[in-house]
Amino acid sequence: LKAKVIVDKDYQIAKVDERIYGSFIEHLGRAVYGGIYEPEHPEADENGFRKDVIELVKELQVPIVRYPGGNMVSAYNWEDGVGPKEDRPRRLELAWRTIETNQVGTNEFADWAKKANTEVMMAVNLGTRGIDAARNLLEYTNHPGGTYWSDLRKSHGYEQPHNIKTWCLGNEMDGPWQVGHKTAHEYGRLAQETAKAMRLVDPSIELVVCGSSNTGMPTFPEYEATSLDHAYEEVDYISLHQYYGNRTNDTANYLAKNLDMDHFIKTVTSTCDYIKAKKRSKKTINLSFDEWNVWYHSNQQDKEIEPWTVAPPQLEDQYNFEDALLVGSMLITFLQHADRVKMACMAQLVNVIAPIMTENNGRSWKQTIFYPYMHTSVFGRGIALKPIVHAPKYDSKDFTDVPYIDSAAVYNEETEEVTIFMVNKHLTDSISLSVDLRSFEGYELDQHIVLENDDLKAVNTADNQKVKPHTNGNAKMDNGMLEANVSKTSWNVIRLK
Ligand code: AHR
Repeated sequence: LKAKVIVDKDYQIAKVDERIYGSFIEHLGRAVYGGIYEPEHPEADENGFRKDVIELVKELQVPIVRYPGGNMVSAYNWEDGVGPKEDRPRRLELAWRTIETNQVGTNEFADWAKKANTEVMMAVNLGTRGIDAARNLLEYTNHPGGTYWSDLRKSHGYEQPHNIKTWCLGNEMDGPWQVGHKTAHEYGRLAQETAKAMRLVDPSIELVVCGSSNTGMPTFPEYEATSLDHAYEEVDYISLHQYYGNRTNDTANYLAKNLDMDHFIKTVTSTCDYIKAKKRSKKTINLSFDEWNVWYHSNQQDKEIEPWTVAPPQLEDQYNFEDALLVGSMLITFLQHADRVKMACMAQLVNVIAPIMTENNGRSWKQTIFYPYMHTSVFGRGIALKPIVHAPKYDSKDFTDVPYIDSAAVYNEETEEVTIFMVNKHLTDSISLSVDLRSFEGYELDQHIVLENDDLKAVNTADNQKVKPHTNGNAKMDNGMLEANVSKTSWNVIRLK
């Protein structure tokens, strides 16, 4: 099998917004307690944050982290999480049916984000609450001082405002499972009025309105159209969420699922532009894919977890090698849509459907999906180029014309480096690849990183990193042409300079 690709400096999609390499920490399972925060751990710093976890987050170079939910935010009182820790209430957390101790809240998370070199993307509760709680929280986090909420922040030991720039107007409000679930009309109006009030508090913020929870929702894409019809002029982004799984053990079909993501992005983009046309607006709404990942391995075991405990091991998917391939393809899909997808959050970051795992009072380690996420985040900054790909295709149960090769290319103008990301989805055959690099005269191969494994179901554990990348890829440069034999079912990062 052969594939031919052209990568040209002139075929530009857009500058990559680094926030597409964002992630997510929800008060759920062991993401916060036992994940980022564990005061009794030997690696804990003076604030109780695990330094080993911070180091792994830094390796990923995560630019922004969504917080505090997720479903959890829809019944959350942010006031419970500020002020002296000993006074904070223990509450029933309704989304995941656990006990929330509130030992971590807004200020602690802002501290953690600083230490992890990342920004906060804050979500407000539009389930049980509304305009008032949202504008008060914003005054607490962003107003310099001299008012009730900003002075309360100061009295809690935070003299300087946190200046949080990106705000989500609720979470998955289209989902019947959401506490305070709303019809598109109800939500659209509430989002519009909340956005208006929040902008009055701080006009410099950026706002994300909720779209659909996944492409299978019966209200998709009408929910987007209706909520934007109300809130179009008040918001900047619309959110998309999507998780995939290989429940029927059909890997060819599973690896094609980023085509569904591609379709989702195109549909939401069109919906935004339809409302733009309808309103004769000059403004363009961009996309925030603020929850995405593989999520299915832990579904069964989660049913057995007792309710009302503190930080139980919920949503602890153990990722295998094929999951890393689909994650790589999803990241490629974002790069292919760099003109409209400006933010994306891998859901989530630690322990809960996460690239980073921890043991309570023990080690931390990297899941298989850590690697494609790290490679794209570290090397995928610059201008997204549109590779022209001629590759063989296949049909699977749900998809037709699935290219065996997925690829994206990023040109970093500052360092003058080019990185090509590629997945070979063929289950049995390698693909002989030639890349025409016509506009990159004189470029040499720097590195060909490969993630491969004969066992699609191989997983990593604290003891054994079975799935990890090597740098012995066989790519060669010959007279402006890059040649490689791309192994079956592999993730590849080819770097040139
Ligand atoms: O990330 C896990 C959950 O998935 C989030 O809380 C929710 O928004 C989504 O349904």
